[in-house]
Amino acid sequence: MAAAKLVLAMLVVAVGVAAGEGGGKLRQGYYEQSCPRAEQIVKHYVERHVPHAPSVAATLIRTHFHDCFVRGCDASVLLNATTGGGEAEKDATPNLTLRGFAFLDRVKALVEQECPGVVSCADILALASRDAVGVIGGPFWRVPTGRRDGRVSIKQEALDQIPAPTMNFTDLLTSFRAKGLDVADLVWLSGAHTIGISHCNSFTERLYNFTGRGGPGDADPSLDAEYAANLRRTKCTTPTDNTTIVEMDPGSFLTFDTSYYRGLLKRRGLFQSDAALITDTAARADVESVAKGPSEVFFQVFARSMVRMGMIEVKTGGEGEIRRHCAVVNS
Ligand code: HEM
Repeated sequence: MAAAKLVLAMLVVAVGVAAGEGGGKLRQGYYEQSCPRAEQIVKHYVERHVPHAPSVAATLIRTHFHDCFVRGCDASVLLNATTGGGEAEKDATPNLTLRGFAFLDRVKALVEQECPGVVSCADILALASRDAVGVIGGPFWRVPTGRRDGRVSIKQEALDQIPAPTMNFTDLLTSFRAKGLDVADLVWLSGAHTIGISHCNSFTERLYNFTGRGGPGDADPSLDAEYAANLRRTKCTTPTDNTTIVEMDPGSFLTFDTSYYRGLLKRRGLFQSDAALITDTAARADVESVAKGPSEVFFQVFARSMVRMGMIEVKTGGEGEIRRHCAVVNS
């Protein structure tokens, strides 16, 4: 019943998404005339390579998220530091663990070969993320296109605007609302943590030093004690470990499914920001309903929130440019 209500709510809101917001100028099939094979080229490349390297899916979708939260979805996260030495978004701590840049460069090169100067890096990132999620068993959604690439990328802006794993519910919601997203988007988009990995240092204070007192007795009480002990014993064995990686959704970190939400309810979300989702009544109700329901329900709401995220502060028309190489602005 809760699942049915969820789908209904989703359909109602979907009308709102199509009707407007910042991304109103994007449209499906934007490249139909100018580069008819663009979407197909991206899809083929992803379908050929992601099965051999499924962890790429996680990094692509995370890159898309980090892109959209800073200056909108304009591929600013893909830009290298300027030759003048100004550090770019890429150089900010949360982006140092992104890994898909070379992959995206290869996709972009193939698309450029077909239609030089037509398809933006921002669109390629949105399309490749969608296609990669599909390859690992996740949903398909139609990506409205027509984004243009930004010409500015500033490290400090990424530090200020990408939400931190230590955030509580209020701060997370403030961060998402600042981008036009709501509680439901926060809950569904966090579901991307059903895939991928984290480095120990993204959450070690929850294991060793939650209040600042320090030691194994100072773990975050909102994290399942048995899970925390296991992580301390087998994975993040010292408080300073910054190289070991941990599956965010143990047992199915390469599969797009609803087990992340079941983990949250067992108090096994890795970050405080994951645990925060069950501290708010409305968010917790959403978590409970998808945790129980068939994965199709999660897939639909996730897809809808991805479309909304992909519309954040996009550049269209005469704004920005179509970059020739995703790591540098056109001269
Ligand atoms: C709600 C706020 C969020 C916070 C605080 C957060 C934080 C993090 C952190 C700290 C990591 C681990 C980085 C590392 O140590 O290597 C991570 C990984 C990841 N995040 Fe999030 N995240 C959030 C939302 C999202 C959203 C909205 C998406 C996508 C829609 C996403 C997708 C991912 C994925 C797929 C990974 C795994 C990356 C990999 O395997 O390389 N996250 N996130």
